[in-house]
Amino acid sequence: MKSRYISGFHDVNSKKDCDVVIIGTGVAGLFTALNISSKERVIVLSKTKLNNNNSNLAQGGIAACVNQEDDFKSHYEDTLRAGAYYNREETTQTLIKEAPKNIKKLLTYGTNFDQDENGNLRVTREGGHSKRRILHAKDATGREVIRSLGVEIESRKNIHVDEDVFAIDLITNKNEVCGVLAVNEHGERIIYQSKAVVLATGGVGQVYKNTTNPEVTTGDGIAMVYRAGGAIHDMEFIQFHPTAMYSEKNGQKFLISESVRGEGAVLRNVKGETFMKKYHKMADLAPRDIVARSIFTEKSINHTPYVYLDITHKTPSFIKNRFPMIYERCLEEGIDMTKEYIPVSPVQHYIMGGIYTDIDGKTNIEGLYACGECACTGVHGANRLASNSLLEGLVFGNRVVQSLTQYISNKRINALPVMPMIEYKGSKDLDFDYIKEKIENIMDEYISIVRSQNGLKVALKEIKKLSNQLLGCKESIKYYECRNMCTVAILIIKAALKREKSLGAHYRVDTEGQGCIINF
Ligand code: SIN
Repeated sequence: MKSRYISGFHDVNSKKDCDVVIIGTGVAGLFTALNISSKERVIVLSKTKLNNNNSNLAQGGIAACVNQEDDFKSHYEDTLRAGAYYNREETTQTLIKEAPKNIKKLLTYGTNFDQDENGNLRVTREGGHSKRRILHAKDATGREVIRSLGVEIESRKNIHVDEDVFAIDLITNKNEVCGVLAVNEHGERIIYQSKAVVLATGGVGQVYKNTTNPEVTTGDGIAMVYRAGGAIHDMEFIQFHPTAMYSEKNGQKFLISESVRGEGAVLRNVKGETFMKKYHKMADLAPRDIVARSIFTEKSINHTPYVYLDITHKTPSFIKNRFPMIYERCLEEGIDMTKEYIPVSPVQHYIMGGIYTDIDGKTNIEGLYACGECACTGVHGANRLASNSLLEGLVFGNRVVQSLTQYISNKRINALPVMPMIEYKGSKDLDFDYIKEKIENIMDEYISIVRSQNGLKVALKEIKKLSNQLLGCKESIKYYECRNMCTVAILIIKAALKREKSLGAHYRVDTEGQGCIINF
């Protein structure tokens, strides 16, 4: 049976109230906070530190139609094509059309994108884009965006950031959100009571062993909403980034930005042969799901755990100037990318599904909004177009504020329900690192680039077993994270089982017919 809360409310140490609580400090959370009127008191919760999130790691950039050679229609069509035409039309149109005005706003916050000698914004290309339209700050765009938003947040008196606070559960009264139960780094339990809550909690990468996502991405927001009765959609659509640097070490994998291919790099198999033309007319710049499956196929044919990325035909000065962070990181791993191929392999990168929202980021729970990766606005369809994710955080972060401003005007802070004075009495000790590793291994083995009914059934059974082992355990942040990871993994597997036909990033090898490794 689904538990409503994973903790009790018996030993709360303090209560804080405000107009809006935002959970998450990626681009969606910070941009939302900055758009809220200075009259409203806003508290932003960060699970660890403000800059520890997926947005901060984004290398490539932000896709937006900002120059004369580009047009909305082309960005829209590229987004739909990459998304396997599963995208929600209205939200996708909005994403594209509202991009320029949100980029303008971002520039007013002091974000420094690369410019040419005349002061025009430089744009690059990535997979699935038919034009150059990606704004970037060398190869560390996310870091620059989070830096500038962070500085702006500090200057705002109405916004307070609480770092090292883990949100355990949303508190709801009937179908309305009234606040958040949280715990800080000292183990003090806090209730944040507010008029509205915005979830910008990011992705789910940590349910996989091989992911580009940082440690904090344990799907907490999605799991919380699921427990609170919110709608969760499209969880089967997991994006595998084609080119993470290959490494046998466990843990987060280092991304080699798709913009490296955008600037001319090509993929080669271990024999040194280029191969992408065999699979798609856009070759190395095909949409991500296609490139990831092509690499998977080449690895299988050649029995190797990686393929190569080759940009050695470009001059060393171009490479070092355009990709300074990637260049340095490759050197640390003993690879000089100006002269040598980089071994790469696809790893989990993004989830297209999540908390279902309307065009204004509203969920089906009153007063609860979601934006960024944790939300499912439908703009990415079954496979996200490169560099549309930071853009989604901006556009829908802004829209959330327009809707929320109306919702909270003339509203009082919601009263807490009487019901949650329940106590949680878990006492069992368990090695949560071991549980996490088991979840990651199961997800990597059975719910990866290719899936089959048999594999999915095995995975579901195994994850449910792990989930049951967690019941009655002593509370800790690792315990809550493991509960959330099991919930999210089960949601992914069940959605993948239900969708029998392949679509976008969801590839069902059992229904594609025998005799082919990959058929697309
Ligand atoms: C990349 O730089 O390849 C990642 C950007 C994205 O995920 O859209």
